[in-house]
Amino acid sequence: MGAVAAAWQHLQRLGQSARGDSISALFKDETRFARFSLQADGLLFDYSKTLLDDTRRAALLGLVQAAGLEQRRDALFAGARVNETESRAALHMAWRAGAEGQFAIDGQDVMAQLRATDARLMAFAKAVRAGHVQGAGGAICDVVNIGIGGSDLGPAMAVAALAPYGDGPRCHFVSNVDGAHLHDCLVGLDPRRTLVIVASKTFDTLETMTNAASARAWMQAGGGDLAAQFVAISSATQRALDFGLRAEQVFGFADWVGGRYSVWGPIGLAVILAIGPENFAQFRAGAAAMDRHFCTSPLAENMPVLFAMVGLWHRQVLGYATRAIVPYDQRLALLPAYLQQLEMESNGKSVTRAGQPVAQPTGAVVWGAAGTGGQHAFFQLLHQGTDIVPCEFMVAAQGHEADLAHHHRLLVANCLAQAEALMRGRATSDVLAMLAAHGVHGAEAQALAAHRSFAGNRPSVTLAYDRLSPYRLGQILALYEHRVFVEAVVLGINPFDQWGVELGKELAQALVPMVEGREESDGKDGSTRGLLRFLQGRAE
Ligand code: F6P
Repeated sequence: MGAVAAAWQHLQRLGQSARGDSISALFKDETRFARFSLQADGLLFDYSKTLLDDTRRAALLGLVQAAGLEQRRDALFAGARVNETESRAALHMAWRAGAEGQFAIDGQDVMAQLRATDARLMAFAKAVRAGHVQGAGGAICDVVNIGIGGSDLGPAMAVAALAPYGDGPRCHFVSNVDGAHLHDCLVGLDPRRTLVIVASKTFDTLETMTNAASARAWMQAGGGDLAAQFVAISSATQRALDFGLRAEQVFGFADWVGGRYSVWGPIGLAVILAIGPENFAQFRAGAAAMDRHFCTSPLAENMPVLFAMVGLWHRQVLGYATRAIVPYDQRLALLPAYLQQLEMESNGKSVTRAGQPVAQPTGAVVWGAAGTGGQHAFFQLLHQGTDIVPCEFMVAAQGHEADLAHHHRLLVANCLAQAEALMRGRATSDVLAMLAAHGVHGAEAQALAAHRSFAGNRPSVTLAYDRLSPYRLGQILALYEHRVFVEAVVLGINPFDQWGVELGKELAQALVPMVEGREESDGKDGSTRGLLRFLQGRAE
């Protein structure tokens, strides 16, 4: 048996024996928090509210080492073609590396070209922000980013997260091919003072190209100046030119940046416009600092590695199929959706890099919402449902609203309370005592206690930081990127491709003429034919 298989077997045995253990009981060790948390560059990762102990942690570390993480990580940063199915490197780190950064693929420097594009990008953003880019009706006051998936979620999430730093034009995001999305966005915007960004790595995505054509028609009809008010960001620059744009309106990036890893470069244009180049440089610097930490810290003190180990422990060892992301930070409300794409598109795979069925379950179902709102929606199930859902909490020591500091204290209290409640639960004896204090006794109390008590012992981790600044956001996103990478290495899968989304795209293209009634649906299954008949019978 190989070292990896042996490490998994050892962990499965440890997982079996852990099932009866109590997280709360582990805190009899007064040093537990210090020993099961890690601070790096202002970010605290607390994983003490889990069933990990020294033995289990050491076994996970053994697994990570046996899987060859360090070699694979070094290959990633060295520009090796780690995305084997597309024969591409995955060098998104180059876009945040700053002046010192040096990256190459097959011995060819990639930084010179990248820096030339970046200089154009920043000059353009500065000109828009300063009012020097003039639309037909004057300076740009609104920006509409048209993109989907990685060409939408990153910039939309970061613009919302960094709103306190926003001093540029208002940014809006349209992703869905549902005309309602574009319509509701454009209502009230001035086509003569709006900048449209078409963000698409492939410049071929049905939703984005449909929205781009409709936005162009809106601008033309409204007297906008397409030459000044329309730009494209893509790896397929020729397609952007074919769309009718001039070279000066197109910002390119190489195909070795995956869509869900692309916010650091030109796809981040809306963020640069919103918060300015200096703040964007801080956002990149936070991520670059996490890159350095990942590359240089010993594995046992390496935040992405420890974070991945907790993920593997919960998903692969204990079998918890989902995990919830709950930022107690309203401006991170879009982060669960961003991380959903990052994690589920990356690690939602069934075969190893060699094309063999993968031996373990792979990516968890990632979902969530900002706290405290989520508490009043799905936390009931987290506390008393029959499935265990590990939670990932995030919380800042300070908000940005000095005049509302008491709100922030309540927010922090709620975050800590949920993590504590998940772990502690509520013992039947406590419930009976509470009921007795309210004069409820005997059979009635016993019956109610069954509903009001719960076992607890539900794990969570917490990321804590001073304040959600551009630097911190960059750190957190890079932390998650590397955590996904570590999990993928251990599972032996390729996190950088996404072939599973192709079939749906192809079928949608083929269904269009059937929806339009131009083609028969004979070859389709009975359900699809029945649905088509129903919808066509009621279409305009
Ligand atoms: O959903 C599949 C996907 O290819 C994502 O990986 C990508 O972020 C998204 O579509 C958008 O792709 P593009 O930027 O090429 O329009």
